[in-house]
Amino acid sequence: MKGTVHYEVKEGVAILTVDNPPVNPLSDGVRAGLVDGITQAENDSNVLGVVLTGAGRSFIAGADISEFGKTPEGPSLDEALRKLEFCSKPVVAAINGSALGGGLETALVCNYRIAGPAAFVGLPEVNLGLLPGAGGTQRLPRLVGPAEALKMMLTGMHVHAKKALSMGIIDEICEDLIKDSIKFIQKVSSESENHPKVRDLNEKVIEARGSDNILLEAKAMAAKTRKGQFAPGQIIKCVEAAINCDDFNDGMKKEGEYFIECLVNPQREAMIHIFFGERAASKISDIPRETPVKDIKKAGIIGSGTMGGGIAMCFANAGIPVHIIDQDADNLKRGMSVIEKNYEFMVNRGKMTEEMKDSVFGLVTSSLDYQDVSDCDIVIEAVYENLDLKEKIFRTLDEVVKKDAILASNTSGLNVDSIAAVTNRPELVVGTHFFSPANIMRLLEVVRGSQSSDETMATVMSVGKKLKKASVVSLNAPGFIGNRMLFGYTAQANMLLLEGALPHQVDQALESFGMSMGPFRMLDLVGLDLGWRARKLSGTEPALPSKIGDQLCELDRFGQKNGKGFYNYNEGSRAPNPAPENEDIYKTVSAANGIERREISDEEIVDRCILALINEGADIIEEGVGQRAADLDVVYINGYGFPIWRGGPMHHANATGMTEVLNKLNKYHELTKSDTFKPANLIQKLAETDGKFGDAPAKEDRKEKLSFSESSVAGNL
Ligand code: 3HC
Repeated sequence: MKGTVHYEVKEGVAILTVDNPPVNPLSDGVRAGLVDGITQAENDSNVLGVVLTGAGRSFIAGADISEFGKTPEGPSLDEALRKLEFCSKPVVAAINGSALGGGLETALVCNYRIAGPAAFVGLPEVNLGLLPGAGGTQRLPRLVGPAEALKMMLTGMHVHAKKALSMGIIDEICEDLIKDSIKFIQKVSSESENHPKVRDLNEKVIEARGSDNILLEAKAMAAKTRKGQFAPGQIIKCVEAAINCDDFNDGMKKEGEYFIECLVNPQREAMIHIFFGERAASKISDIPRETPVKDIKKAGIIGSGTMGGGIAMCFANAGIPVHIIDQDADNLKRGMSVIEKNYEFMVNRGKMTEEMKDSVFGLVTSSLDYQDVSDCDIVIEAVYENLDLKEKIFRTLDEVVKKDAILASNTSGLNVDSIAAVTNRPELVVGTHFFSPANIMRLLEVVRGSQSSDETMATVMSVGKKLKKASVVSLNAPGFIGNRMLFGYTAQANMLLLEGALPHQVDQALESFGMSMGPFRMLDLVGLDLGWRARKLSGTEPALPSKIGDQLCELDRFGQKNGKGFYNYNEGSRAPNPAPENEDIYKTVSAANGIERREISDEEIVDRCILALINEGADIIEEGVGQRAADLDVVYINGYGFPIWRGGPMHHANATGMTEVLNKLNKYHELTKSDTFKPANLIQKLAETDGKFGDAPAKEDRKEKLSFSESSVAGNL
């Protein structure tokens, strides 16, 4: 059995300490320990009441996520929580750290909740495709009202102790948690034999009866922020039951039914795959866990543009002082003012207070002099994609920055080894590919150069965690992971356009599949002129998929930046309007390349674009450029708008079945004759055994086989 609950009696109070490192989930051993502990406390006539707490940094981080989909052993969570709720003696939840999901639900069956100053609570089940299924949907609305409860459950947000106190989720905050909780039990047990139960507090749910507003607002919020997800609707139905059922137990019954429906929905498996995938991605398979990491006390950023500014905000938000260098005073002034405006925007949206803004923005300094980053522990170069410029900057950094500092390049596709080679510290050089806007997007591709040391890699991964990023390691290979996969995806979108589809049809089909933004909206956002200008400069002819985009650029249609691209945009708006004037261009380019336009189904659009991701992904895994299949899923969900509820492209392939994937690849290979659909070796092998991506670990000895072209893959789109 996993986990245990320690039992001791202090000053007439039983202390139950959940011990299941590192975050105390409610595994079978914990559930059994809770049942035994309460039984023991009830049987001991010298015990006045119970204090329930957690060992280490967490109170209870919820149900044991690894148990979902398996047959549970030992007592059920329901049995353990009933034991606590109906204990004949008062029970205090002494919340020492995180009380999340089933952890908060455990606290809600206790008679009282006292928190330490560092505690935080939340019901984040929605992020796992689930709902709070241990009474959370029925009890939280009774404590804080249905509207606040829905907000917490639909966002999955963490609520810190002070706020939780003001909302009424906890009763007190104490510095000396256990000592004060013991005193609390001594007091309440001498005052009364009846202790409050959240299930009996009906006022707030009854108040909400007869008005649809709360539920309608929740539905609107879920439609906007959790498009395509199954669990939010189930959560809303549970709260509806909490509001309308006269008997608390009827609401609980409904919650149980809706929970099972979530549990068996494929979205649950997909989202839990990503939960564990993100945590696995943060570990590097051939670097020992105990590898020392450098202490990063100050960061430097070279370049005050959109990327540099966004990266600087990430450090400041994590409490790390950051200094920005730019060679141009006007650029720097503009960059700093954009950062300040971003923080002001957050204050206006109620996401931070004015004081928080002052203290965070106060961590960002700037100047024109490289000497000012000489004392930094890490310096990240974030200038535009030009190898000569980057090498020049790294030469300077190598001279001025202290010798043991890490130097990182925010390149999206250049050769990190070439950049490292101009320094005298290649072992301290690494790629850190942030995604724009860097202060918002969670993905961080950490590019491992052939000489990057274990300590450098471990340090950068730990920095990623401090910056709250989903960090994924890629070997130093063209396009790394994300842009290499994107290349085939956008190429297919462009080929579909040449073959007869229109941009809005392609975008709508992929957005209905769940992509947050269709490829043509994305290309308009990035700017069609990037690749076009690069090709003009180098005198290269566009490949077939780039021909329409280049033709649009010839007509000054660069995308959102000048209000016209694949779509038209009204001034100041990002909403795409169809551009019928482009249709003649599509027809002309198709005809000029001997392509007969035809009717194309939405199914073909989705199949071809998503198969392109999967097939390239299979090669990336087999080459060892990505460590494991789930890493690619983490990349696509956090950096490219792939729907989390489908678990990423590789999980989607697993869910589809490898034989089906192979059959479709063969079908589109036959139809298009494109190498994009020539089935990857790994897919053929897996289809033979009905296997899945993730069954075999990626190879680790492929570094020498990677050939790197100096051109950025993004520039070729
Ligand atoms: N079950 C099983 N394992 C868990 C877990 C859980 N609920 N929560 C965390 N872990 C594991 C992680 O997988 C990781 O394992 P690893 O070291 O082998 O990779 C380890 O604990 C540490 O986790 P983190 O790296 O995430 O640690 P952090 O300190 O960064 O974060 C945390 C701690 C905020 C508690 C974070 O782990 C977290 O958010 N956990 C999930 C909370 C959650 O979603 N709870 C709801 C569960 S579902 C539920 O309760 C259903 C109920 O309503 C019936």
